[in-house]
Amino acid sequence: MDIDPRHVDEVLTTTRAVRRRLDLERPVDNQLLLDCIDLAEQAPTGGNLGSRRWLIVRDQAVKDQLGELYARTALPFMSATAQRLRGTGHPQERVMASAEYLAQHLAEVPAIVIPTIIGRHDGNGRPGLFDSVIQAAWSFCLALRARGLGTTWVTAALEDEARVKEILGIPAHMTEIALFPVAWTKGTEFHRAPRHPARAITYFDRFGSTSERGPAESLRFEDGPGVTVEIDVEAAPATLWRFVCDPKVATAFSEESIDAKWESDERGVGAVFVGRNHHKAVGEWELPCFVDACDEPSAFGWRTSDPANPGARWRFDLEPAAGRTRLRFSYAIGPGPSGQTVAIANHPGKEHRVLRRRLAEVQANMQRTVEGIKQLAEESR
Ligand SMILES: Cc1cc2nc3c(=O)[nH]c(=O)nc-3n(C[C@H](O)[C@H](O)[C@H](O)COP(=O)(O)O)c2cc1C
Repeated sequence: MDIDPRHVDEVLTTTRAVRRRLDLERPVDNQLLLDCIDLAEQAPTGGNLGSRRWLIVRDQAVKDQLGELYARTALPFMSATAQRLRGTGHPQERVMASAEYLAQHLAEVPAIVIPTIIGRHDGNGRPGLFDSVIQAAWSFCLALRARGLGTTWVTAALEDEARVKEILGIPAHMTEIALFPVAWTKGTEFHRAPRHPARAITYFDRFGSTSERGPAESLRFEDGPGVTVEIDVEAAPATLWRFVCDPKVATAFSEESIDAKWESDERGVGAVFVGRNHHKAVGEWELPCFVDACDEPSAFGWRTSDPANPGARWRFDLEPAAGRTRLRFSYAIGPGPSGQTVAIANHPGKEHRVLRRRLAEVQANMQRTVEGIKQLAEESR
């Protein structure tokens, strides 16, 4: 049978967390759920052991107890956060309002499905067992979506494990993995979610090593090779902002950066600073740096030498991450001439080695810089 990847891709890209669009009125047949569980059971399983056990809850009294439990464990936090974010346009605003809705209506869904696995997931280092359940649970969600049903991957309802086990009679040797409120969806049109593009989060051969094109089997200048480092900082993006948009800060941490001076008073896109650097093999050099991104408090970037044909591009991204900030610092070589093009020309046949060595040096300095910024930001809170 030929598989049309467009249909598969549609399911893979539009299986969203459905909460407000769950149809609480339309009954769901048990056989439909069992069909989806049969499909989910085709997922890989470590050692080919069938250790997954599924629970379908239809009894209203049991659903009421689960609803009360979810409301008790999650609703205070969800309602307070939904209230705080209302009208702010914050990326989590809609998610929180919808999560609050689900926590208020859990007992009204036609069915609740809970995948469990034999064994205790208590950090006992048995990935062959516990990593056998997530993929089956997700296959279940995909199978629902393909049939016009929907759900949300809920874990907050399982936090009080003792009470969950008590309500459902789950033996102590089992682990509950997720709780799925299942219903027909109101409408079947769902959209792709905004996510990091693969190029930004996929590394080649070495952790942190990026490629804008390609890569070929070895590093090539023309592919736009680069590196990315990341660190989680216990501070809000606004607290980090003044450190990431001050190029002088790196001089305290990077072994290469000695100085940075703004050419003008202006600081936004188009502003220029001159960076002075030192390298034991090259000596000292200066480079004009042209700010090409200044989006407070989420992105600050610049390009070196020639804004139209830069020698390299540098960028900080600040992403809110559950009360913290995920600070990402990335660097890409080219496409214009730089010390790297000179080194490559001077070492024929050694392009890969020249680039690999340079990326490793830059990555180490970038790592020192983000660690330094983390320290400054956390101290200044
Ligand atoms: C491990 C995990 C736990 C989750 N726990 C909850 C939860 O307790 N309650 C809830 O409403 N949503 C929960 N979600 C759903 C996420 O909020 C949702 O996937 C996220 O907002 C992205 O939305 P999307 O899946 O539609 O792209 C959970 C998702 C995952 C993967």
